[in-house]
Amino acid sequence: MRSTDKFEIISEMAKRRGYFWPSFEIYGGVSGFVTLGPLGSTLKRKIEGRLRDFFIRRLGLFEIETSVIMPGKVFEASGHVEAFQEPMVECKACKRKFRADHLLVEFAGMSETDTEKLSLQELMSEINKREIHCPECDGNFGEPKRFLTMFKTTIGPYSESIGYGRPEAAQGIFVEYKRIYEYTREKLPFGVAIIGHALRNEISPRQGPIRLREFTIMDLEFFFDPEKPQCIMLREVENETLRLLPAERVLKDVDETIEVTVKEALSKGLIRTEWQAFFMALSKRFLAELGVPEEKQRFIEKLDWERAHYSVQGYDQQVYLERWGWVEVSGHNYRTDYDLRCHMEFSGVDMTAFKKHKKPIIKEEISIKPLTSKIGPAFKEDTSRVVKLLSTLDPSELEASFKKQGFHIIKSFKILPEHVEITHKTVKEKGKRFIPHVVEPSFGSDRLFYVTLEYAYKRKEGRTLLSLPRDLAPVGASVFPLVSKDGLPEKARQVYRLLIDSGFTVEYDESGSIGRRYARADEVGTPLGVTVDYQTLKDDTVTVRDRDTWRQVRNKIDELPELLNAYFRLKIEFKELGQPVES
Ligand code: GLY
Repeated sequence: MRSTDKFEIISEMAKRRGYFWPSFEIYGGVSGFVTLGPLGSTLKRKIEGRLRDFFIRRLGLFEIETSVIMPGKVFEASGHVEAFQEPMVECKACKRKFRADHLLVEFAGMSETDTEKLSLQELMSEINKREIHCPECDGNFGEPKRFLTMFKTTIGPYSESIGYGRPEAAQGIFVEYKRIYEYTREKLPFGVAIIGHALRNEISPRQGPIRLREFTIMDLEFFFDPEKPQCIMLREVENETLRLLPAERVLKDVDETIEVTVKEALSKGLIRTEWQAFFMALSKRFLAELGVPEEKQRFIEKLDWERAHYSVQGYDQQVYLERWGWVEVSGHNYRTDYDLRCHMEFSGVDMTAFKKHKKPIIKEEISIKPLTSKIGPAFKEDTSRVVKLLSTLDPSELEASFKKQGFHIIKSFKILPEHVEITHKTVKEKGKRFIPHVVEPSFGSDRLFYVTLEYAYKRKEGRTLLSLPRDLAPVGASVFPLVSKDGLPEKARQVYRLLIDSGFTVEYDESGSIGRRYARADEVGTPLGVTVDYQTLKDDTVTVRDRDTWRQVRNKIDELPELLNAYFRLKIEFKELGQPVES
């Protein structure tokens, strides 16, 4: 019997038609990894191309590429080593391990909001109270633990040289910030994106492309001066309506969204920064372009205990999926100066920006000179670290600490007045240094890929149609000879060659009846079918068939390249491709 579960239907179609399937099947498979087949990898690349176009090219932002493996220091500094830990329980009988909070969501219907605030012990007592057993063997669970969900490795043959697979691409931008800032000729605001693989060693992923251990992320870090937080492009989106579920509603368990314009969301304080609101509005438009209607999208605010450690305000953009309900496709976080500040403190490298005053300001300046003759004997091998840390300190903060308590703690080092010389002088200040703030839209492109497939999936007269947006479809057109004889295949191959040489992705198919070939092309999502028939031999015209309506038009072969170009660039509609053919 045909499954009614949408995810199963899509997965079955995806496997058969070369979109995606579970990886390593010949060795029994490993959950959390999927392979994208010939059509799937093209679709995902096209979605990423659209992301690039929409968020990078059009906004004049930059893209960089950084490594997937990074030294441990990067993630110690960023706080991920501390924060990227998930609650886990092990079955005493079969030894399988599960995310404790996910068990409560899946088998006891608790909300993620409720499970995320529970401590390890509280999660365990809920599991016991609700009598949840191992989903594999019905065994009992042992004591819960926290599990670091970053892949840990060593770099080179040195066991002490710890590295991690990046769980987000963002850190690649923060650690390279200084050079990028120089590249932009030290002008804010600017945005930098990375589209690349990220790794998360998920405890028990069982949701196909929705929860992967290796996936593609697009992290976009937008840097701005916190004293000049105005979004210069806000006008373009200020009247766009957003469906929001703000924290106050989430806290009251209200699942109904409110509809507000971007302008209202900002004036009511529902979204704290203009840039974040701007990117949220664009993300809504972007999902609509992938085929997700507005009423199937919403933004839900993360509660204090749900937010990532670097965020002071976060909204998840969610899309409704038939099997799982609301699923996050992008996260929008206000990261403030958190990351740059952490890397400055850890590395000792100055990552501030400089801002010129309109007129110089006369002020008293305090400076700190580390006294190595005193610091050396006190801090020994940590001397150079302490000296570096002192260079990142605000001297007035140090002086205030000395006045208040006689010492200052930086990291775990206790700095005494005798370790430094503090001097005051009157200066003419031309400008000031500050750490830029950051808002981050972040997309999971595998989720976008799955969402696009699920929303494109349609049934018509007992047949499957994959109604992908025409510019995203992996194959633009199929060329068919009506029958495999009488010179039609030869002519059809010429048409195929013409379209290939004109830059289109086209398939040639002459196997089976024309009806079956149309049905296959509809199921893989090919928007156009170009058929060579007996009339073609007389007047060099072909029919062009639309995947979604099954209507046909006829036109001259040599008109096709220009018309198809306009059609795939969304400049003209199907009916403009030729004269209607009576069916
Ligand atoms: N940078 C986005 C994330 O950590 O999910």
